[in-house]
Amino acid sequence: MKSSVAHKEIEAPSPTSETKTKTEEDARVDVATKKIKINVQNVELFYGTFKALHGINIAIPAREVTAFIGPSGCGKSTLLRSINRMNDLIDGVSLTGSITIDDQDIYAQGVDLIELRKRVGMVFQKSNPFPKSIYDNVAYGPRIHGIKDKDVLDDIVHKSLMRADLWREVQDRLHTSALDLSGGQQQRLCIARALAVNPEVLLMDEPASALDPRSTSKIEDLIGELRHDYTIVIVTHNMQQAARVSDSTAFFYEGSLVEVGRTKELFTKPREKQTEDYITGRFG
Ligand SMILES: Nc1ncnc2c1ncn2[C@@H]1O[C@H](COP(=O)(O)OP(=O)(O)O)[C@@H](O)[C@H]1O
Ligand SMILES: [Mg+2]
Repeated sequence: MKSSVAHKEIEAPSPTSETKTKTEEDARVDVATKKIKINVQNVELFYGTFKALHGINIAIPAREVTAFIGPSGCGKSTLLRSINRMNDLIDGVSLTGSITIDDQDIYAQGVDLIELRKRVGMVFQKSNPFPKSIYDNVAYGPRIHGIKDKDVLDDIVHKSLMRADLWREVQDRLHTSALDLSGGQQQRLCIARALAVNPEVLLMDEPASALDPRSTSKIEDLIGELRHDYTIVIVTHNMQQAARVSDSTAFFYEGSLVEVGRTKELFTKPREKQTEDYITGRFG
């Protein structure tokens, strides 16, 4: 069957990387002209009576990396999960305001959550491969979306593992258990699994914080590769990581967005004292 999961994009060559010697003025013009992929407007979120997000407004540009930073408990994961409605799975959660992706309100009535989560993939801190083979982990999503043809699945599994920089390491053991992989490999497998349904957005919640430095740097390299083809939002408590991988950074404190800006500017010339205190290690 012809599926809606198109794979033409998955191997598309990345555009050549932009020159890094931009002036600040250029950077500002860039932001103003960037296509906005995700628009969060006045979002408030309650867990029962506890208000976890306070009037959040943030526009997330398409095809770049946006980092969410801030001390533990400030609402980074809560906001991230709101972008593919994972919070819907938690009892007692209520959200007001709006979140749009390509101008479509994802909280509107009748939104198909399976379709939404296909467009907006998620990778968690703790890698969570299914207790299945490597192949079946990656083929899982495409199968749910109706792809049965073995050649098509083989192709998706191959391309997704290539894209996640794991193919070389696992090509001879595709039908062995995913649980036998190392932590870093499992995390790249989870990324491959997310890529297999051809998402537009990748949400990553501290994807490297449980990994050793070498595996962490592989994940960071991978984010660098993927950033031209996907809109990536990454939560990290590691400021060096945010500085290394992201184009924009948003700093949160106690459920509020304190400041968002181009990463280089936010780390060198924060506008808010709270941001400065945090990035210079005075708290958090
Ligand atoms: N499922 C939940 N039920 C109730 N409160 C929660 C839940 N998840 C998170 N919280 C609370 O919401 C606040 C923000 O949490 P979280 O988004 O996980 O922060 P971060 O990811 O920045 O560490 C914290 O006070 C946390 O205790
Ligand atoms: Mg968190």
